[in-house]
Amino acid sequence: MGSAGGPQARYGSGCGGLAADGHGMALYRWPAIASSGESERMTENITTMRAAVCVGAGGPEMLEIREVPVPAVREGWSLVKVRGAGLNRSELRTRRGHSPSVRFPRVLGIECVGTLAISTHSTLRDGARVAAVMGEMGRDFDGGYAEYALLPNDLLMPIETTLPWEVLAALPETYLTAQGALDMLGITPDHQGRLLIRGGTASVGLAAASIAAGYGFDTAATTRRPAKADTLTKAGVDHVLLDHGEPLADSLHDLWPEGPDYILDLIGTATLVDSLRLVRRGGTVCMSGSLSGWLIPDFEPIAQIPSGTKLTAFHSDNYKGSAGAPLLQRVVHQIEAGRYRPNIDRVFTLDDIAAAHTYMENNEATGKLVVLP
Ligand SMILES: NC(=O)c1ccc[n+]([C@@H]2O[C@H](COP(=O)([O-])OP(=O)(O)OC[C@H]3O[C@@H](n4cnc5c(N)ncnc54)[C@H](OP(=O)(O)O)[C@@H]3O)[C@@H](O)[C@H]2O)c1
Repeated sequence: MGSAGGPQARYGSGCGGLAADGHGMALYRWPAIASSGESERMTENITTMRAAVCVGAGGPEMLEIREVPVPAVREGWSLVKVRGAGLNRSELRTRRGHSPSVRFPRVLGIECVGTLAISTHSTLRDGARVAAVMGEMGRDFDGGYAEYALLPNDLLMPIETTLPWEVLAALPETYLTAQGALDMLGITPDHQGRLLIRGGTASVGLAAASIAAGYGFDTAATTRRPAKADTLTKAGVDHVLLDHGEPLADSLHDLWPEGPDYILDLIGTATLVDSLRLVRRGGTVCMSGSLSGWLIPDFEPIAQIPSGTKLTAFHSDNYKGSAGAPLLQRVVHQIEAGRYRPNIDRVFTLDDIAAAHTYMENNEATGKLVVLP
């Protein structure tokens, strides 16, 4: 990838750094950004903004940078000055035309962080720092790939933090999904257990590993690429398993003869039936990812779910708005304290959005991709 159209920066140097390595997990410290005195109210007469508009179903070239009108504020909706947006595979699927309800042209982006430019919210004032995920953002209405986004008030999650925007932007969808999936599995800090994460190098997998390591869980995770083992270890994974596309039984049973108590399956449909076999009898499998596709042909629940084994799922729409706000604030505090990692692979500018989608589609990332408008 050349410099023109390539990523803005390889993340790491200059934006934060390794501060200590006291318990086997890297601890990160971040330079603070101003936390007060911000007034983001649109006092200037700004009428247009830059946005990455998906003009039709197809490849990354469908994402066009355009000058478009700033959305007009209306009752129940507030205008957010977007400071950063995490990229997601669901946006990639939408761009390809696999979200039947989405009509083009559309500004994609199911999450963003920023400041309130014009608030109609009952308690949040102009300048408040907020995050938002899901709720048909970037699908039914324009999303985070823009300088401004008009969002329903009930999606707004206030965030107190001094983290840099690119770090904050990496957290909402990824960490809320990881936390939600662990919650569905019934994993808490109050008990110990064995957790297998399938698709461990996905940004959601790395976030789940951070949380589980913080709980003191014994954690294993899979990758198809040996070169990514180190990333898993740094995220807090105790045992790295190589996934050769075959059932994992041998390597897993060498590690845990009875099987794991919990499996978080992000690969999804290609591995779910195998996961149900691998988890210890009575254990729980949570499907939260679809890296391998959406449907399991000929799935026979009675035959393929061992008696007593539990199957659950998590959808991040359940942790949008007020449901997710306290969880996200807790994650932010853990990142600030250096206990969780933001797992950022690269930061792109809005101009490089097509290159960012190509990078994601080619599975080149190990961690979260962020775009800054
Ligand atoms: N339930 C929800 O609400 C929710 C929310 C957010 C995301 N998700 C889903 O969760 C999954 C992970 O999302 P993410 O953003 O964390 O992904 P990501 O960071 O883009 O994941 C990238 C990694 O996934 C692995 N991978 C890709 N295709 C694979 C395949 N066919 N089989 C096995 N591994 C594959 C590769 O790792 P290796 O090269 O190391 O094998 C790749 O580097 C996605 O399916 C996403 O749509 C669900």
